[in-house]
Amino acid sequence: MKILSIETSCDETAAAVIQWENNQATVLANTVSSQVSLHAKWGGVVPDLASREHQKNIVPVIEETLDRASLTPADIDLIAVTEGPGLMPALVIGVTAAKTLALIWDKPLIGIQHLEGHIYANLLKPDTELRFPLLALVVSGGHTELVLLKDHFQYEILGETQDDAAGEAFDKVAKMLGLDYPGGPVVARKANAFRDNNNQSPIAKIQINSNNQNTKAKTGLFPRPMLDADNFDFSFSGLKTSVLYFLKKHEAEKEDEQFIDQVCHEFQEAVVDVLVSKTKKALDLYSPATFVIAGGVSANVRLRMELRNLIDTEFPTTQFLTPEFTYSLDNAAMIGIAAALRYEHMSDTDRALLMETYHTLEPNANLPFQNLV
Ligand code: KG4
Ligand code: ZN
Repeated sequence: MKILSIETSCDETAAAVIQWENNQATVLANTVSSQVSLHAKWGGVVPDLASREHQKNIVPVIEETLDRASLTPADIDLIAVTEGPGLMPALVIGVTAAKTLALIWDKPLIGIQHLEGHIYANLLKPDTELRFPLLALVVSGGHTELVLLKDHFQYEILGETQDDAAGEAFDKVAKMLGLDYPGGPVVARKANAFRDNNNQSPIAKIQINSNNQNTKAKTGLFPRPMLDADNFDFSFSGLKTSVLYFLKKHEAEKEDEQFIDQVCHEFQEAVVDVLVSKTKKALDLYSPATFVIAGGVSANVRLRMELRNLIDTEFPTTQFLTPEFTYSLDNAAMIGIAAALRYEHMSDTDRALLMETYHTLEPNANLPFQNLV
């Protein structure tokens, strides 16, 4: 089957066409129109600006996607759209476009939860199969969660952030350092530059361990919040504040590029330590057949490397999947693949209902994972 999918939950206007056949996905076209430069001058996404931009771009992006796939509406079997979570003024544009197409093309329409899309993005790699139970570390700009799937679309949230999401912390620390939005890729690049040049850097003399009472694990300049808490929850707000206080104490060095690189490195190490330690606890307890990372922060190379080390050394029987870099960040191909699998697991009656219920689909800014009954 061929699925046209639409994603407008944040600041990317995205559409894709996926072909799902013999348990394999082929991405026939994947278009992402980014608004990053528009929001960069505000240091973050401005919901109303995002909405206006989606409205301008949604039709051209869908047309371009169908053109690239060399398909006409008649070739499409199913329309899929991100229903939530996300920014309401942004979601509403994608959902309205999808409902309109379902009406005029007379096609079934399915709503997909955005984070579910990030998890299923792992299936966009050729010859990949999800084996259950599956543990997912979901790390995006709005969410940080450890999620257990006993089977397809059977979700249990083991733990989540009590305040900021991991990606949000990257973005806020970047802002404190005067770096570009989105902060994640920039902070990661600078952190990696520091690691590469560590020995030559005069700033490497900065005393570490200065305010690090919050961890028994690795040491560093910044705390590892909730590392020892007996649960799978996260907290990144205190870490962000400790970066802020540290920068206030080192006002003079803020112009020094190597100093900035080291702060990025120390911050990234703190985030990665916490994510890896909590993941290890969940792997120990649930012994999943598959472990995946999902969401924008899954593009972080240092995080991937540390998780790879953990799996290889301590959980060699667990299959570890990472999304291709193109599908780590927001895109519509991930919404299409999740829709293909959901559709496949639905009863005939529920599939038939999709033709009739399309007009009742509503965006939901806080949509949780939806178990398939
Ligand atoms: O999943 P995503 O594209 O959008 C949301 O659903 O939120 O995630 C975006 C987040 C941003 O906070 C961005 O800074 C972060 O992912 N991010 C990264 C990296 N690339 C993107 N964080 C750390 N390292 C990266 N390489
Ligand atoms: Zn996302």
